[in-house]
Amino acid sequence: MVQTSPPTPEPKAHHLPPGSPEGLIFRGIHPTVVVEGGGVLHFPATTIIEPHCTFIVGPEASMHFGHNVTIYSGCCFRNKYGAYEIGDEVSFGPRCAIYELRAGLTIGAFTMIGAGVCISGVNHGMDPEAGPYRFQPPRCLPVTIGSNVWIGMNSTILPGVSIGDNTVIGAGSVVTRSIPAGVVAYGSPCRVIRPVGERLPATPASEGEA
Ligand SMILES: CC(C)(COP(=O)(O)OP(=O)(O)OC[C@H]1O[C@@H](n2cnc3c(N)ncnc32)[C@H](O)[C@@H]1OP(=O)(O)O)[C@@H](O)C(=O)NCCC(=O)NCCS
Repeated sequence: MVQTSPPTPEPKAHHLPPGSPEGLIFRGIHPTVVVEGGGVLHFPATTIIEPHCTFIVGPEASMHFGHNVTIYSGCCFRNKYGAYEIGDEVSFGPRCAIYELRAGLTIGAFTMIGAGVCISGVNHGMDPEAGPYRFQPPRCLPVTIGSNVWIGMNSTILPGVSIGDNTVIGAGSVVTRSIPAGVVAYGSPCRVIRPVGERLPATPASEGEA
């Protein structure tokens, strides 16, 4: 005899409030946010911090966030010592790692940091004769990012880099050297491609292309 199991119940759908973008954006600081370390952390009341973000601020470190900063879910901010100065209206996409900028991090107003961007200010010692790299004194360099900069998702900004105002860094770039203001730059290593606002000439269509 063939046995039939009872039909699997349909999973219940979760509905956001109809037509309301407010349904997607959490206001305020989500209760899952973790803050540790004993340093100075300043968020104005206008800050939005989504679920599962962490702020590890060492006792000699400080992080100051300007007005209307949005930090999407899963971001990690960490520093043993040194200051982060984040301007007004800056946004950090999901899963950004902003860590150990012991010589300082400055980000200007209206800058957008895409999902998965990593910014660090530390190079470890790399002398194979001097024991594990982990225990060698690190070389710490500051990172400065201007105003109205857009950093594409999954880019990496290395120690010592400055990025000028109004510049766009393409997705997936590894920024090893400073990039001036007002340009589109991308690639690994990241190179200036053109002034921002100027289109590249169209690539000629190869045979058979429409
Ligand atoms: C840099 C960027 C803004 C340029 O956009 P665009 O001017 O419209 O560029 P196009 O798509 O016309 O591409 C022009 C050329 O650059 C190349 N290119 C564009 N972005 C690139 C990138 N990030 N890395 C490497 N090459 C890139 C394209 O392949 C194309 O080359 P081709 O002419 O040989 O085919 C865009 O490509 C980008 O990286 N956006 C980031 C998106 C993002 O991170 N969004 C998350 C929300 S914050």
